[in-house]
Amino acid sequence: MPGQCVIGLQWGDEAKGKLVDLLTEGKDLVVRYQGGANAGHTVVIGDDVYKLHHIPSGIINAGVLNLITPGVVINPPTILKEINSLAERGIDVSTRMKISQRAHVVMPWHVLEDKMWNELVSGEDNIGTTLRGIGPCYADKIGRSFAIRMGDLIQPDFADRVRKIVAVKKKVLSATSGDQVVELDPDAIVAEYTEYAAQLASMIADTNRILLDAVDEDRNILFEGAQGSLLDIDHGTFPFVTSSNSSGVGISAGSGVPGNWIQEVIGVTKSYATRVGGGPFPTEQDNDHGQHIRDMGNEYGTTTGRPRRCGWFDAVAARYTARLGGVTSVALTMLDVLSELETIAVCVAYELNGERIDHFPAHVNELRNLVPIYETMPGWQTDVTGARSLDDLPANAVRYARKLESLIGRKIEYISVGPDRAQTIHIQKRESLEEYLKGKYV
Ligand code: IMP
Repeated sequence: MPGQCVIGLQWGDEAKGKLVDLLTEGKDLVVRYQGGANAGHTVVIGDDVYKLHHIPSGIINAGVLNLITPGVVINPPTILKEINSLAERGIDVSTRMKISQRAHVVMPWHVLEDKMWNELVSGEDNIGTTLRGIGPCYADKIGRSFAIRMGDLIQPDFADRVRKIVAVKKKVLSATSGDQVVELDPDAIVAEYTEYAAQLASMIADTNRILLDAVDEDRNILFEGAQGSLLDIDHGTFPFVTSSNSSGVGISAGSGVPGNWIQEVIGVTKSYATRVGGGPFPTEQDNDHGQHIRDMGNEYGTTTGRPRRCGWFDAVAARYTARLGGVTSVALTMLDVLSELETIAVCVAYELNGERIDHFPAHVNELRNLVPIYETMPGWQTDVTGARSLDDLPANAVRYARKLESLIGRKIEYISVGPDRAQTIHIQKRESLEEYLKGKYV
């Protein structure tokens, strides 16, 4: 069986954790391949709610091996906290998870740099990062000379390396921070991180080997994307993006599996749009509509608690990210959030400098100047949280999903109507919603 992947088609928070949890059934491995503790994945099973940042969502299922591969950046105290809180709930992570030796470590200076860089850029240029040190850690990875990988933590020259890096970082940070004191004590950092390494030692491994062996053995593997495609460092709304390849193109590079082996990619999208932090958001509704969506969808960040910006579904953006990621089918989430609305708008194209365009522009200045062209659909004004099949949905809800399906250009395979595992419609036959509606309502 080829690898199955779950990626976000928007700016993150598409409810990927729930889908990953569903698809984990029958899998041998679940792989997190990019991002770090900036992610927030919520998995709800019955009354149990698990909020994960670092650890793959497959951790809740016994019998699944979870891998954190080279493309991820690890914050040791954060991941240990997560491991300990899962242990309190009876989940022994150490027997279910391996972390790549090649994954880079988010060190204390990365968090300081993230905060400092954030303070230096104000107004609409501010990215509004999660302040988790993600960008600076990836910057050091690319720069190489001052990077530390998980495997380095247990090398004999670790202390020496930290001292050399801290000496340089202090100079740079002091130069930019003015009078602020830069508190980085290399000996304390070495002692602290050596202790973290000891606690994580049994989990640090060569995940490339494990994964390539699993590919040779035809194991069932699920790849779990973090953030969303529009936050991709190369293909997203740069510079208002994260620092990793969070679209479908990141799966191969971040995990270490050959690209031609990835054949099934499920693109997850909300039934509307949200984004956290700064940057262009063409369909944003900074008004009562947006507030209604925020209230109904409880749109507050899992990682930072920030209220999310909310708006209408942007089909141009979703079509772009579905094509970019080689998406084979779509999971439409949070449909229930729209249930009270009388009418729902969908962005079908943009106007840029007086011209209609149907592609997603590359430059931030173009993205900022887009005027969405909307089509309006009638709402269904019926609670759909109990729906378990297409037949249980009001016709207008299916019509809305069909509209999105035809605009994205990929079949919708899952519709989620609530946070619980059970609140999911799986369109097994993979018929298009157009065919379904014809058969039912001619
Ligand atoms: P960073 O990843 O902390 O550098 O933040 C860069 C941008 O990505 C900011 O706008 C964040 O709000 C956004 N971001 C990072 N991780 C997530 C996520 O998991 N969900 C949604 N937005 C995210």
